[in-house]
Amino acid sequence: MYAEQAIAMITGGASGLGLAMAKRFATGGYTTIIIGRNAERLRQAKEQIGAHAFTYAFDLTHFDAIPDLVQSILNDHGHIDVLINNAGIHLKKPMQDIQNEEFIRVIQTNLIAPFVLSREVARHMLERQQGHILHISSMAAQYGIPQVMAYTAAKAGIEGMTRAMAVELSPHGIRVNCIAPGFIETDMSTGALDNDPERKERVLKRTPMGQLGCPNDVAEAAFFLSSPAARYITGEILRVDGGNAIGF
Ligand code: NAI
Repeated sequence: MYAEQAIAMITGGASGLGLAMAKRFATGGYTTIIIGRNAERLRQAKEQIGAHAFTYAFDLTHFDAIPDLVQSILNDHGHIDVLINNAGIHLKKPMQDIQNEEFIRVIQTNLIAPFVLSREVARHMLERQQGHILHISSMAAQYGIPQVMAYTAAKAGIEGMTRAMAVELSPHGIRVNCIAPGFIETDMSTGALDNDPERKERVLKRTPMGQLGCPNDVAEAAFFLSSPAARYITGEILRVDGGNAIGF
């Protein structure tokens, strides 16, 4: 599928699932470009990923600057084969306490930024008639989880957008998929679960595999979905959840 040096661009690649994906793509032979807000964390991530990692410090809610970001990556590296829209923020609060600005911030980061970045990268991928765009959703898109109203709205939007993008782009050689991670051990989930032992117990009880996932579980799925082995898979929402969604 990719004749030249393959290049993967991963947002939020300096921590958690993004870092695990960046490592997996790097060991799989990709040049790996990671985007994040914090230059020092990016530097530390690059050290872990190795020589084939390149970092761009950028806040993805600066939508108007995204076209320039993509252009500078293209100037530096020539092309983009894989875009992974992984960056995200969480907000846990009862709905009656959520301020407008907080809701907007979650939607901007978790839904609008992936759209704007996908649009800009898709323009480039359309010229090459190839590529893979991967979104990261959540069980919150599939269940009604209390106290994560804005996050749920954004992630449900990402799943819908995966299907809408897949039908527009797949005829042009660009596949679009989504991974819906279950409960995976990262800083984000630790924050959401460790302060709430009751919720953690409930998660584990209804997960047939009886354990939280690790970031590499998601990274392996992302690598597979981006590989030629998945050439006939598009518009898919793949759960990586230890069976959580089918647990009773
Ligand atoms: P994390 O908090 O470790 O990583 C999120 C990354 O996104 C961070 O590096 C952060 O700096 C970056 N980011 C946030 N806002 C940004 C912005 N405006 N511009 C640039 N970068 C920004 O969290 P984790 O767990 O690795 O989450 C990654 C993705 O996986 C998120 O989309 C999250 O919603 C999703 N997810 C995680 C689950 C879990 O159990 N850990 C479960 C379901 C979904």
